[in-house]
Amino acid sequence: MSEWKAVCALQDIPVLGSRRVRRAQGPQVALFRTSDDAVYALLDRCPHKGGPLSQGLVFGHAVACPLHNWTIALDTGQAQAPDEGSTLKFSVRLEAGQVWLDQTELDSLGLDIEPVRAGPCTRAC
Ligand code: FES
Repeated sequence: MSEWKAVCALQDIPVLGSRRVRRAQGPQVALFRTSDDAVYALLDRCPHKGGPLSQGLVFGHAVACPLHNWTIALDTGQAQAPDEGSTLKFSVRLEAGQVWLDQTELDSLGLDIEPVRAGPCTRAC
């Protein structure tokens, strides 16, 4: 039986936008809200080279990665052909304007994946 964790209100996610959920370890989870108020949750890592999907453009029920424009389906985490690969998908419950994520998935999915660290190059490039 799933244990659900309230993470935010629907209103906290911009329409056609996203919000990140920080976890104790592992990459963050990105919440996406579509124009018809559906909410999806994916690991905040593009299957291509780890781009932050939470900073991508949401359109329809997909997000375009901000780095190289791959299109990722929000309901499956699957890259759109001809690109290949997928990112982890998390279960979402939307009830009375509150967004809930499965605590077991938050505590287990993708923890072994290194978070992407952006910043200045610290060695001779
Ligand atoms: S990292 Fe997302 S398209 Fe390349």
